[in-house]
Formats: sequence, C-alpha cells, structure tokens
Amino acid sequence: MALAAGVLKIVAPQPGAIYPTHVLLAMVLLTITASIYLALRRKTVYLVDYACFRPSFNLRCPKATFLEHAHLSSLLDDSSVNFIGNVLKRSGMSDETCVPPVLHYIEPYCGLYEARAEAESIVFSVTDDLLAKTWINRDAIGVLITTSSIFCPIPSIADMIVNRYKLRGDLRVMNLSGMACSASVTAVGLASNMLQVMPWGSHALIVSTETTGPCHYQGNTRSMQLPNILFRTGGVAKLLSTSRSKARFELAHVTRIITAANNSAYRCAYQEEDEKGILGTRLTKDLMVVAGDALKDNLTTSGPLVLPTAELLKFFLFDIAGKVLYWRKIRPYIPNFCVAFEHICIHVGGPAVISSIQRGLNLSDKHVEPSRMTLYRFGNQSAASVWYELAYIDAKGLMKKGDRVWMIGFGAGYECNTASWVCIQPSSCADGPWANCINCYPVDISRKA
Ligand SMILES: CC(C)(COP(=O)(O)OP(=O)(O)OC[C@H]1O[C@@H](n2cnc3c(N)ncnc32)[C@H](O)[C@@H]1OP(=O)(O)O)[C@@H](O)C(=O)NCCC(=O)NCCS
Repeated sequence: MALAAGVLKIVAPQPGAIYPTHVLLAMVLLTITASIYLALRRKTVYLVDYACFRPSFNLRCPKATFLEHAHLSSLLDDSSVNFIGNVLKRSGMSDETCVPPVLHYIEPYCGLYEARAEAESIVFSVTDDLLAKTWINRDAIGVLITTSSIFCPIPSIADMIVNRYKLRGDLRVMNLSGMACSASVTAVGLASNMLQVMPWGSHALIVSTETTGPCHYQGNTRSMQLPNILFRTGGVAKLLSTSRSKARFELAHVTRIITAANNSAYRCAYQEEDEKGILGTRLTKDLMVVAGDALKDNLTTSGPLVLPTAELLKFFLFDIAGKVLYWRKIRPYIPNFCVAFEHICIHVGGPAVISSIQRGLNLSDKHVEPSRMTLYRFGNQSAASVWYELAYIDAKGLMKKGDRVWMIGFGAGYECNTASWVCIQPSSCADGPWANCINCYPVDISRKA
C-alpha cells in the first residue's frame, strides 16, 4: 500500500493530475508486491491428524514369558538370563507390551519374508486408520516420508505404501533409515520444509515404525541385549498440510540437533557385530550423558523461540552473574519449560531416560505421566513413542484448544530433535491405542516394580 501510494505521489504530484493509468499502475504494483510476499512467506504447517498402531492382544509378551524364552534359549548363557531378568524388573514395563509374531518362537528366526510381513502389518494398519480418520482423497497426498531404522528392504517401505494405496505418480517419496528413535520428529521437520515448496493446501503423509524382528540380537553382550529387552512393536501415521481446514494442531517450531561429530555421541547407539560376529545394536552406558548434552544444545536453540521473556531474562541474569562472580560457583538457572508448554512428550527410551529428563528440566510427575504410562503399556516403540504419548493426553481428555505440546525425540547419531505444537481442536473421539484401557491409567509404577 505504501509503495503504491509512493508511486502515485511520484507520478502525480498534484491530486488533479491522477489519471486512470496511474491508478492501474499502482494496483499492478500492489498485486505484484502482495504476490511476492505471499510466495516468499513461510507457510504455516498443520497436523491434520495421526493414528497409532494398536497391536493385537495375541502379540502380548508378559515379562515371565520373555524370561522363560530366555531360559529355554540355547543361545543365551546364565549370566545373560540373569541380566535380562534384572533389567525386565527395572524396565518400567507391564505385561501388556507386545512383540512381533517372529519373536514368540524359540529360537526367533526373522528372514526377509517375516520382516516384510511385520512391516506391512504395521504400516498398512496405521495408514488405513489415518485415511479413515481424515477422509482425505489419496490424490491429495503430495509427499510421503517413511522412517524405519534397521529394516530397509528394496523396494522401500515408502514404495510398499505407494503400491498398496496406488498413490499418484508425481509423489515426492523419501525413506529415512538409520535415524532411530528421533526419526519421526526429524520427518516432521522434513515434511514441513517440503510443504513450503509445494502449492498451498498440499498434504504430506509420514509413517514411522521400527520392525523389531530383524534387529533381534542373539548373542550374550549385555549392552547389545538392551534393545531386545526394551523395544516393542509400534508405529504411527501422521498427515501434515498447509491447509488449516480440519487440522488438529499447528506446528510452531522444529529444532534439530546432531552431535555425531563427537565420537562418544556417535558410538553410544551403534549397530555392529559382537566379538563372535553376531549382529546387534549396542546401547552404551554413556548414552544418558550424551542425551543430556544433546538436549542442552537443543534447548539453547529452541529455548529463545518458546520461552516467555521473564524466563529468558532470569536465565541470562544467572548466566551473567555466574561469569562475573565466577568464584561463587553460581548454578545456572534451569528455565521453567512448564510455563511454555501444557503437555510434554519425552521419548520413551527407558526409565532412566525419562527420569534424567524429568530431573534435568525440573518436571513434575504429572508432566512425565504420558511418557511413563506409554513405557508401561507399550514399551519403547522407538520413533513412534512420542505419538502414543500424545494419544494418551488425547484419550485422557486433557488436551484443550490453545494448549501447547512439546515433543522431545532422542535417537542414534546422536540426535535430539524437538517439535512444538499448538492445539487447534481437541480430539472428538477417544479411539486410538488407549481405547478400552485408558481408565486404568495412570498406574502407580513404584508399587508395581
Ligand atoms: C537399562 C535400565 C532399564 C536399567 O535400570 P536401572 O534401574 O537404571 O538399573 P541399573 O542402573 O542398576 O542397571 C541394571 C543393570 O543393567 C546394567 N546396565 C545398565 N545399562 C547398561 C548398558 N547400557 N549396557 C550394559 N549394561 C547396562 C547395569 O550395569 C546393571 O547391571 P548389574 O546389576 O550387573 O550391575 C536403565 O538404565 C535404562 O533405562 N537405561 C537406558 C536404556 C537406553 O539406553 N535407552 C535408549 C534407547 S533409545
């Protein structure tokens, strides 16, 4: 407007001298400027909806069964069986968690056929649920991103979905592998960037799962047995769009931090062969320290974007005081993230991961309830876990319009990725992975252990 008025002033210094051509010129300029602004402006991205995998009851693997199978296995020595029993007791998981069909056998065998069947059963189920929930026309999907760390068949899991749902030929398809538990937040950032270069109102479908059958470790190295004990079946599909219509959440920020330049971070979750040549994924004891450092780096970037000014001011004042009065050893101020978010979904890495984030960020038991209950009911479902936590908050009816949600994903690399969302409309139905059992939660885990 100012530009158009300026142009009118220059070409017609006296009001009487304005001709229709001047007005036309001003309008053309106004239109061009508005078009350039709209084209360059970052489009807001929305979460239309999401659907989590609900494993069938017959895939349940109670801790006693898990331990019994370990006892009966000819591959595991006594020390390994004791270790499995010890960690299962401290795992924070219930007897309701599920493993894929292949892991119900003694000895488990997972070839390509079984792994593909496992992946298909999860990704098709969540995609069916999401399509049914959102009523979206399949041709409206312009971007497809799948994430699966260990199982990467040819054709890819993304191709499986294109083939099954006959998605359009000019679809932008990406398949993320090896990115472990933080991949679903990574994929949200990637989809958000892809949607920026697509026409307004485009849709991106993201499907995340971890096919646990092919990553089952059959050796006796403790740090490589941990994923066997903690990881369970799970998966999620999400639909993102630049159209607000029917959307449930608005994406506020995504912050990604990668610390792989540091050797200990790079190797703390590492796929390799043990000394006997048996393939598995090692989770080292350093992982907790590495995760804490990666989270600190993430907060340094995301904090100023999400925290209110008062919290930022307190943080900077303490920081300056610490530097000026260095001999007093003033402890750095930990900003109160609870004033920035009503709900927090921390990756369900294991009880120690949740506890250390709770301590580090001074969170109440209420804030970590979705994480602990997801671990208890479903186990560590890798990248999908933060979405089961969102589903927990939805199913409990705790999500209100305007509520802010913070997702914190951790994964091999080592990465710490966070996404923050603002609720536009709470869920209209409590159907989801917690259907039929949400009233039993929260449970007192300290009494169950
Ligand atoms: C494994 C875990 C459940 C154990 O519970 P805990 O209450 O912390 O118990 P402890 O620390 O006493 O550990 C129990 C045993 O596990 C062993 N242990 C723990 N972490 C281990 C690791 N990464 N590698 C090998 N052994 C490990 C301990 O040495 C201990 O063995 P011991 O009894 O013979 O001394 C807990 O440490 C945890 O949640 N760890 C994080 C798991 C992880 O890395 N998740 C990321 C996946 S994305």
